[in-house]
Amino acid sequence: MDKNPPTTPPTRYTFSEMTWEHGAAVGKIHAEHLRHSFMSYLEARFLGRLYEVLIELEYGFGFVVLADDKVAGFSFGRSQPTQAPTRYVFKAAKRLAVHVIVLVFTHPISLAKAVIGVMQSGKIIHDPDVGELLAIAVLPEARRGGNGARILEMLFERMRQEGCTRARWAAHGGNAGMKQFSRSVGAVIISETRIMGRPIVWYERDLRAGPTRDFKDNSE
Ligand SMILES: CC(C)(COP(=O)(O)OP(=O)(O)OC[C@H]1O[C@@H](n2cnc3c(N)ncnc32)[C@H](O)[C@@H]1OP(=O)(O)O)[C@@H](O)C(=O)NCCC(=O)NCCS
Repeated sequence: MDKNPPTTPPTRYTFSEMTWEHGAAVGKIHAEHLRHSFMSYLEARFLGRLYEVLIELEYGFGFVVLADDKVAGFSFGRSQPTQAPTRYVFKAAKRLAVHVIVLVFTHPISLAKAVIGVMQSGKIIHDPDVGELLAIAVLPEARRGGNGARILEMLFERMRQEGCTRARWAAHGGNAGMKQFSRSVGAVIISETRIMGRPIVWYERDLRAGPTRDFKDNSE
């Protein structure tokens, strides 16, 4: 009997800028792992198409963590929040007109909830020097190894390059993991509200301070 059975090598993660090619995989991760997000009222296929378009819009950018070339997590944000998020999402939705019309007839309530949620949660953002983190998720098997913090720091760096001095994001008040994660990346809570009955917490990170951890060891 083989006393030393072969061991699976540890997964090697790499990081890159998100492109439209990642859209479908990102949409699937969003639909399955961001259940509290208002956008999760929309089906994965639509979300995939939406990300394909959002990433190509001015001011939108994102980063992915790849495990053997497969998307294992993503962060997505934008740097021009003076423009209301609804207008931003509508801009993308206009390019997906046919798909939106299908949703109006097939999932009207889900669509309405997603639009109202995004509109409401975007209210606090209106500040020209604030970048917005719109979504972040890492697959469960790729968590707690620094991947989430890494793709968020990449997003912060891009926001700094675009002139932002602060980053903000909203999360469900009951998302304890996100609360700890946000604290660990240097954010503080700036507001707590309820949107469509859900407790929502707003976080802010001062971008004039650098990263809270050293990522040299797991960089590409
Ligand atoms: C939030 C999320 C992106 C974090 O990804 P991650 O790869 O696990 O994050 P990291 O490994 O970089 O975590 C950095 C630090 O944050 C804290 N942290 C992260 N997840 C945590 C959790 N579930 N519980 C407690 N602390 C947590 C820890 O301090 C961690 O450092 P440590 O592992 O050395 O203790 C991931 O948990 C996720 O995808 N959650 C589901 C989606 C979601 O809720 N997104 C946010 C809504 S906007």
